[in-house]
Amino acid sequence: MRVPLIAGNWKMNTTVSEAVGLVKEMLPGLDRVKNVEKVVCPPYVSLSAVREVINGTTIKLGAQNLHFMEKGAYTGEVSPVMLAGLCEYVIIGHSERRQYFDETDEIVNKKIKAALKAGLEPILCIGERLEENEAGKTEEVVTGQLKSALSGTVYPVGFVIAYEPVWAIGTGKAATGRQANDTIGLIRRTIAELYGGEAAGDVRILYGGSVTAANAAEFMEQPEIDGALVGGASLKPDEFLSIVRQTAEIR
Ligand code: PGA
Repeated sequence: MRVPLIAGNWKMNTTVSEAVGLVKEMLPGLDRVKNVEKVVCPPYVSLSAVREVINGTTIKLGAQNLHFMEKGAYTGEVSPVMLAGLCEYVIIGHSERRQYFDETDEIVNKKIKAALKAGLEPILCIGERLEENEAGKTEEVVTGQLKSALSGTVYPVGFVIAYEPVWAIGTGKAATGRQANDTIGLIRRTIAELYGGEAAGDVRILYGGSVTAANAAEFMEQPEIDGALVGGASLKPDEFLSIVRQTAEIR
């Protein structure tokens, strides 16, 4: 039985005090929802402050990125060991990192290994760009990204994958439930090829890309979809809470 997971990726939004305000506003409602794992991913600078607010609750914390080295002369970077004491999850390979910060499959692979070594649970993001989708290359791109990201790893328990078609992120143009379910089914079959059927049955695979309270049910009703990685709507307490509640009702 895979416990559904809803993660809010706040991206580069909120000051420390705004982050604390946001999590405090969501907390009572979120904490009451059972049988769904709830994760918030604020910017690095707010992780400690948000941690203090959520301590002792059912809300979990994730970072949005990490460096793959443990420590050293890498000005401005944050290492897996620094995050390990603070959060449970870390988003790796988000398309915005691939697009604006030149994160390659090779870097994503190093980050995955570093996160696992530090005891963090990666939320690995994969997804095709619009032109790749239109050229019928979704399958090739998604399985390629998955295999490179996981290259050289043994199957990690607690591992989470987010299928996020790049054309659906922040555009208001979500995939359909059916499309997302098909690609996520393909991702699960690839995990079965790589690590066997038990791993494929365990791994949680989320959909991400313009998920809102209005379309969440369409995704959660799909058998292959285990939750959502939510961007814009995760900054709106009522929307995020509604997505989490609908997930609990449907699953
Ligand atoms: P969005 O972002 O929900 O704003 O489309 C999703 C994501 O980037 O994870």
